[in-house]
Amino acid sequence: MSQVRVFLSGCMGRMGRVITEMCEEYEDTVIVAGSDVVLNPNSAFPIYDDPMKCQEEFDVIIDFSHVSAFSGITKLAETKNVPIVMCTTGLSDEQKEELNKLSEKVGVFYSGNMSLGINVLIKLVREAAAKLYPDFDIELVEEHHNKKLDAPSCTALMIADGMNEELNGQLEYVYERQSKRAKRDKKELGIHSIRGGNIVGEHKVMFIGGEEILTISHSAQTRNVFGRGAVAAAKFMCGKPAGKYDMQDMLG
Ligand SMILES: NC(=O)c1ccc[n+]([C@@H]2O[C@H](COP(=O)([O-])OP(=O)(O)OC[C@H]3O[C@@H](n4cnc5c(N)ncnc54)[C@H](O)[C@@H]3O)[C@@H](O)[C@H]2O)c1
Repeated sequence: MSQVRVFLSGCMGRMGRVITEMCEEYEDTVIVAGSDVVLNPNSAFPIYDDPMKCQEEFDVIIDFSHVSAFSGITKLAETKNVPIVMCTTGLSDEQKEELNKLSEKVGVFYSGNMSLGINVLIKLVREAAAKLYPDFDIELVEEHHNKKLDAPSCTALMIADGMNEELNGQLEYVYERQSKRAKRDKKELGIHSIRGGNIVGEHKVMFIGGEEILTISHSAQTRNVFGRGAVAAAKFMCGKPAGKYDMQDMLG
């Protein structure tokens, strides 16, 4: 395939604009159409308020929008029979189940975090948890900008789930401590969210022992890391058969 043709859902948002700028630079990727609730008559490609109105042919969908766009964009993937790279976070359990069903018909790439560094961090914290738990208490802190809608971040949950899988589900996630007055239980995994300013995304896992603390952290410096991962995933998904895919599949 000479050029990958992308349909971009949420094209007027922060991540949508990052992807648009990247595709303008890359010769092998072009955005042929997009959808958003905000329209822009000066856009280089047509923007639809309803993705199903799209007339253009495309090879793959990238979605960085909002949970309210979910049914429209998954319908487009199914109707056009093209793979989708789903990057929107905060999906409900029902929507995740719908994605599973969709993956029986088309390729579905889903990752709450498209950066390479976070996916390496997950491998590292799994290993640390296996070696240090239960002697060390585990706490997780995530920080994001003040416009983020969901908390804790989808990435924090991916990190927590990775460690919990490694420990055969022994951990219990605790999101706030003010509701009960009790000592910390060994099986607790505290997950804490900080929101403010323009923080792109910080994740820190602390393994706290009696005499030493191991901290493994990741800092996203710009949104480009997510954009690059999403465009790479779009190229990876072109022509892929139905099924579920994630960063581990892409990175091998
Ligand atoms: N997976 C990752 O690595 C990753 C990284 C960054 C952001 N995200 C997620 O991607 C999503 C978008 O992030 P953002 O920072 O660009 O947000 P944003 O708010 O800047 O942009 C979202 C865009 O979606 C549009 N939109 C909202 N409702 C819509 C609807 N019903 N139909 C069509 N368009 C609609 C908005 O108008 C806006 O232009 C969020 O869920 C965010 O958490 C994921």
